[in-house]
This record gives sequence, C-alpha cells and structure tokens, in this order.
Amino acid sequence: MKLNRTLISISLAVVGLNAFAWGQKGHDVTAYIAENNLTSTAYANVTELLDGKSIVYWANWLDNASHTPEYAYSKTWHYKNIDDGYDYEEAPLHKDGDIVRAINQQVVILQNPNASRTDKQLALKILVHLMGDLHQPMHMGHASDLGGNRWTVNYFGRDSNLHSVWDSSIPESAHKWTYSEWNDQINRADPAEAALIIANGSPEKWGEETFDICRSVYTLTPEGTKISYDYVAQWTPVIEIQFLRGGLRLADVLNSIFDPEYKPSNTFVKK
Ligand code: ADE
Ligand code: ZN
Ligand code: ZN
Repeated sequence: MKLNRTLISISLAVVGLNAFAWGQKGHDVTAYIAENNLTSTAYANVTELLDGKSIVYWANWLDNASHTPEYAYSKTWHYKNIDDGYDYEEAPLHKDGDIVRAINQQVVILQNPNASRTDKQLALKILVHLMGDLHQPMHMGHASDLGGNRWTVNYFGRDSNLHSVWDSSIPESAHKWTYSEWNDQINRADPAEAALIIANGSPEKWGEETFDICRSVYTLTPEGTKISYDYVAQWTPVIEIQFLRGGLRLADVLNSIFDPEYKPSNTFVKK
C-alpha cells in the first residue's frame, strides 16, 4: 500500500514535470529549423545576444524554469485554454497570462531600445520556447481537463493522457530522429510553400490554427482510446507540419526583430 502510494506520487510528479510543453524534441526541432532559416545578420545578432550560444541550446529551458519560484509567473504562459463550446476569440482569458499574450510581450521587450540586455536575453529564451508550444495542438486544449492532461487514453498498452501523448509519445514514435535529422527531413518546404506558412502571421492567428487541430484531436480521440500504430500513422504528418510551421514562423519573427533589412511576412512585429 505504502509502495503503491509512493509509486502514485512519483508518477504524478512525472506528469507535473511534463505537463508544460512539446517534449524536448519538439522544441529542439522548432528552434533548429528556425536557426537554419535566419538571415546571416539575424543569426549574428541572436548569437551575440545569447553570448555565443544558439537558440537550440535554450529551446527547452522554460519548461524547467517555470517549475522554479523565480520563473513561476510563467506557468500559464505555455498554453491558452479554450473550453468546449467556446469559439477561440471568446474564450475567457487566464488572469496570469497565456501563450499568445506572452509571445507578444516578449517581442515588445526585444524591440524596446530601453530594455536591458538581461531582459532581452530572457525574452528571447521565452520567445523561442513558446513559439514551439504554440504549435502543439493540446496547448490550445480545454481548461476543464487541463489541456488534455486529465483526458485519459491508453498508449500502446499503458495508461497515459492526451496531452502527454501529443507532447512527446507521438513525436517520439513517429520518427526516431535527432533534432538535426528531423530538420534534414522536414525543413524542405519549397519557397512558395514556406511563404504561405509565414504569410500574414500573428500569434493570434497561429494559435487559432492550432486550436482547429486541437478540436479535431479531441473529436477523434475519445477518452479511453487505445492508441496504437494506426493513430501514430494518422497524425504523424500533423506533427511534421506543426514542427515546420513553428520553425519557419520563429525564423520570420527573429529575422524581423534582428535584421533591419528583413521584410517581415508577419503582421505584428513593428518595423
Ligand atoms: N499544461 C499544464 N496545464 C495546462 C493546461 N491547462 N492547458 C494546456 N497545457 C497545460
Ligand atoms: Zn512549454
Ligand atoms: Zn505540453
């Protein structure tokens, strides 16, 4: 009994740890695709701000940081909840913030000539992470089930939940690739396709697109679903396009901020 309780608290702690994001792979892939699509000026300025490190190095950092007292204010910034029956635009807003507002705020800090270098470094790390999460369908999930964390499913014979399956189980089952192999395989949009992905973008629009996918995921994954090979095969193309969208859009945002010559495709970074 005591052992059972210990096991339960260990597994709850693990759920808590993982509840915040695409797994590490999704963040690394998103950041690496972005890095490969930066202009040389943007790349140089980003690298200088990060003291020589790359955006991939920091891509996953916020998931750990949000669990510490210093950055606990950012706990709700990883997602936006839209409960069943609400349209994206009318869903009540969390008082502590959400991913869409947090992304806008980081861009404002990065563009503020009076913001300190330390504040800009932090804003960049947060932005890189959140542009990944913005493309994880379950990060637009219902408040009532904590974005699918309480939506129980069975994953290849073990009990799991819809959120964690989408954060990491499906991406990891889809391809056993490193982040650079993911980049090699999916960062292949032709120029017209890439232009469409970034055209007229804003965090609000990207969030709404992710929300539309989220709705289908809920509909096609009733509670208790036994997820197996057919489900992974069905959703692998969605994982791939979401990683690619996150990466190309992050590149467009960073190019807009860090390269004075770059003409943004998005509609929200002020030039
Ligand atoms: N991670 C933790 N809580 C969440 C929620 N309510 N929605 C989406 N992701 C979450
Ligand atoms: Zn996260
Ligand atoms: Zn998550």
